Amino acid sequence: SRRFWFRTYFCMAAEPTNVNEFQELARQALPKMYYDYYAGGAEDQHTLKENVAAFSRINIMPRVLVDVSKIDMSTSILGYKTPTPIMIAPTGLHKLAHPLGEVATAKAAAECNTIMVLSFSSSCRIEDVASSSNAIRFYQVYVYRRRDVSALLVKRAERNGFKAIILTADTPRLGRREADIKNKMISPPLQNLEGLISTDVESENGSNLQAYASATLDDTLSWKDIAWLKSITRLPILIKGILSTDDAIKALEVGVDGIIVSNHGARQLDYSPATITVLEEVVHAVQGKIPVLLDGGVRRGTDIFKALALGAKAVMIGRPVVFGLAAKGESGVKKVISMLKEELEITMALAGCCRLEDITRGHVRTQTDRL
Ligand code: FNR
Repeated sequence: SRRFWFRTYFCMAAEPTNVNEFQELARQALPKMYYDYYAGGAEDQHTLKENVAAFSRINIMPRVLVDVSKIDMSTSILGYKTPTPIMIAPTGLHKLAHPLGEVATAKAAAECNTIMVLSFSSSCRIEDVASSSNAIRFYQVYVYRRRDVSALLVKRAERNGFKAIILTADTPRLGRREADIKNKMISPPLQNLEGLISTDVESENGSNLQAYASATLDDTLSWKDIAWLKSITRLPILIKGILSTDDAIKALEVGVDGIIVSNHGARQLDYSPATITVLEEVVHAVQGKIPVLLDGGVRRGTDIFKALALGAKAVMIGRPVVFGLAAKGESGVKKVISMLKEELEITMALAGCCRLEDITRGHVRTQTDRL
């Protein structure tokens, strides 16, 4: 029986049952510098906490006595079918979490039929990610002062079968992430940029992240440049980093194919709102003309349900994927996605919703509803 308890203990310790437990495993697995890079946010990390806390202030209003024997969570994003409204957000430098990096993440995405957005700051080559699995992949782009470099990477992604371009619009400069500064976090050179741009920059504060961003990112980028992006690719374009109705309307005006309500996982502007608190107004502004996705603080199936009830077409998850990767590689990412899938399914059953279309505004109550 000693052996039984020993095994029981280790099974419990080894098999996380929710996303938050993966965060703890990742913390144990990673050097502090890398864990902090993944987990941290900007400045006071107010928005970092709020992204999660704001979800917890929303209640789910169930309907009972509904036949929920068959739950269908499938949807389509830009015409691409997916079994759940869960996507992998673009996050940089997966090789710091696991030696196989984004290749492992893409393999997990393929096994779950989950759409993966590959980061411009990927530590694996675009071509290697593309050839390692048949996951449906979108490509995230940062616009560099060297526009030719950004254009080249967009074209490489397009040539390698990526299906959409995600323009990250909230990063004219890098937010102040104090843990990275304290840890003197140094980014390894990005393979996709090899021979194109030097990552060897002078840093003032010990970490090279901010100095590299300042040297490369084009902070003159503006709405008129969407025309330039359209001119270099035939792929659909989504803008990531929209938090206001003003910007949602501008996105409609310039004619993009979708928007992502995001505060970059609270790594950019601290005290920007928790994404779930602005989703509904952005959705209203867009009037159903283009899909609205959301990321930031999604840690539970109930969070996904809430985002869908407030009008999101799908959600993206950032840190949970990286934590899964750090803890258990490809199988960790798979587990994170399958746990969220399972949680969403049970949430839908208990709330009386069989299909995603059944999830309505009346299935959630926000704090303002109650006033
Ligand atoms: C990011 N994010 C991000 N976004 C982007 O457009 N390009 C990028 O290269 C990165 N890199 C990146 C690295 C790390 C470590 C994190 C945590 C995040 C932001 C990401 O796409 C997404 O908006 C957030 O991660 C969503 O919040 P959660 O799910 O992490 O709470």
